[in-house]
Parts: sequence; structure tokens; C-alpha cells
Amino acid sequence: MTAIPPLPSNSALIASRPLLVMVHGANLNLLGERPAEHYGTITLEELEKRVKTAASHVGWDCVCHQTNHEGEFIEYVQRYRSAGAMIVNPGAWTHYSYAIRDALELVSGPVAEVHLSHVDEREEWRRRSVIADVVQVRVAGRGPEGYEEAVAAVINLAGG
Ligand code: DQA
Repeated sequence: MTAIPPLPSNSALIASRPLLVMVHGANLNLLGERPAEHYGTITLEELEKRVKTAASHVGWDCVCHQTNHEGEFIEYVQRYRSAGAMIVNPGAWTHYSYAIRDALELVSGPVAEVHLSHVDEREEWRRRSVIADVVQVRVAGRGPEGYEEAVAAVINLAGG
């Protein structure tokens, strides 16, 4: 007679929380030092904390990464392409990186493109986003609150 396996422990019965991934690109590690009229005074660390808190309030885990290397940004997007939802601010790469655009196209969950500044009201070259057609949510010029709006929007699109 085969032994009945023991019941799983309580922790094994609790489903893991869905994952929101946020990836920042070039120069965003220096938030807090960049021109305040465009980016405010918030640091990346503070911004990540706000996003993690917003995600946690609705039952989601959140991991955050920043890199100044385009290939590394692509690797983060690839690594997390099956995550529940994604928020990206690729910085200047937004305006010309087709490689990042092609990586984002492979992400299965909803993706938000967020910019702290009003990219559409600045220099001509910032008005073009080459990732716009592969994201589901776009937020610009709303400062840190824009990130919280993006969290709510992508999680909502992911079905909560
Ligand atoms: C930015 C806007 C980009 O044009 C710029 O290159 C950045 C930051 C923003 O958050 O407003 O680095 O993505």
C-alpha cells in the first residue's frame, strides 16, 4: 500500500503574487541631479519605492532595474518577458532604439511607457517614440504620479 503524501505546508498553499517589472534606462540613475524643471527632485530610489508600494497595495510584487547600457536594458526586457506586467522608461533610447522596440514586442503582459517630463513639449527629437506601437499604456509629464497611474493601468489591463 502506498503512503498518503503529507499535506503541503501552509506556505505552499499560498499562490505566489504576480510580478510587475520596472526598467529604467540611460541617465535615470542620476534622477535628483538632472534638470529639476523637467524631472523634479525625486531620486530613482524614491521612485522605485513608490512604485513598489503602489504594486504591493494591490497584491503585486515588483522588481526594479536601471542600466546605462542598451544591451543590458534589452536583456532585462527579455528576462522578464513573461512577467505579469512591465513599466519602462528607456530615457533617450525611447526616441531611436529599434532594438529595444523589438525586445518589448516580445513581452506577453501589458507594458507602460512612462516619462517624467513632457516629452511632447520639448525638443523635436524627443517627440518621437519608436516604442509607442508596442506598448499598451503611455504616460508623460506627470512626474512620479505618472508612475503610479501606470502601475494602476497595467495591473488593470493584466486583470488585476
Ligand atoms: C525621459 C525623457 C527622455 O527624452 C530623456 O532622454 C530622459 C528621460 C523622461 O523621463 O522624461 O532621459 O524619458
